[in-house]
Amino acid sequence: FKNNFCLIKVTKLCQPQNYLWIGEKADNTFDSQVLQYEPAHHGSINTVTNLSPDLCVSGGSDQAVVLYDWKQGRMGQSFQGHNREVTKVICYPGSTWIFSASRDKTVLMWDLNQGDEPIQEFCGHELVVNGLAISPDGRKLSTGSRDNWMCLWDIESAKCEQRHNISRNLVTHICWVPASSSIVQTSEDKTIRVWDSRTWQVSNTFPAKQYIQTYCDVSPNGNYLVSSSNGFGGQGCEATLWDLRQPGCKVVEYRGHLQTTACCVFLPVSPGSPAQVATSSHDSSVRIWDQNTAACLGTLSLDGAGPLVSLAPSDPPNLLCASFNCGLHQIQVEQSSHQAQGSGASPGGAGNLDIRVVARF
Ligand SMILES: *[C@@H]1O[C@H](CO)[C@@H](O)[C@H](O)[C@H]1NC(C)=O
Repeated sequence: FKNNFCLIKVTKLCQPQNYLWIGEKADNTFDSQVLQYEPAHHGSINTVTNLSPDLCVSGGSDQAVVLYDWKQGRMGQSFQGHNREVTKVICYPGSTWIFSASRDKTVLMWDLNQGDEPIQEFCGHELVVNGLAISPDGRKLSTGSRDNWMCLWDIESAKCEQRHNISRNLVTHICWVPASSSIVQTSEDKTIRVWDSRTWQVSNTFPAKQYIQTYCDVSPNGNYLVSSSNGFGGQGCEATLWDLRQPGCKVVEYRGHLQTTACCVFLPVSPGSPAQVATSSHDSSVRIWDQNTAACLGTLSLDGAGPLVSLAPSDPPNLLCASFNCGLHQIQVEQSSHQAQGSGASPGGAGNLDIRVVARF
């Protein structure tokens, strides 16, 4: 019954975009060509990540962790084990491991080659787990929760080896700095903290921003951090680029979203293009920014899709985007061939991008 209800809701909200808005909204005229695959989830999707160039893993309010071959448009395994909504999923690159965090206060570990039961359970947090990151060597799992605790677990034994609580540190997201022992963590207390995983102490605290920090990502070379913040009416909805080599040094701000920016990611560098950052927001849009100049290179509005809280960059030009109302989206970001009609790009901006939805599932 619940599933039927949700399917009807999805249909209502998402199909008009395919048919009705042509002509009404000039920037989304390609929407009639969106492929519709079997929906990965019933209900809102909170998180999506890549397992391989073809496969993604996602989680949401239906408590399931779902594997999807989005290049073929085929649903794979569905992992059931959480009894509250799934907040984050991550994969360990090059492996068949999946980790999922949930409002049920646990983290479960799954292996694609070992059936559909969890192979490990990490229990100890007292509230929703929002932060999840694996050490570069694949041996440790770092978790953070709304309960103010940051924990470091041994993956093989599922033992919590280090833990530390900081008053009012309601963890919203965690990122392991590539090839290092540092972890970056955002919080509802508006602070960004850098942890040393060897001592399990905070090694740097970035100056508090005015708004809750919702998400963070670290550039592949480990030099830059991007964090995003909540807000409304255009206030506080920015993402910020920081220099990790000079902690606390703000480089640029990406301003344009009208509501909470819920996700921010570095895009893989493609030849001939400037370094880029992508953001998604509760305002139902995805924006692509020039990483260094902070110019908005393109905007995609997914009207009716509700909050967009997770992005997973794949091989260019593909980008996956999770939504509350309309499932997952395969998006393509390409250099515009017709500069003058760039879809929603900033006025006069050079190198306007075409951003379009290819498939929805
Ligand atoms: C940390 O946790 C302990 C045990 O639950 C508690 O007594 C203490 O007040 C907490 N400290 C902070 C800073 O939250």
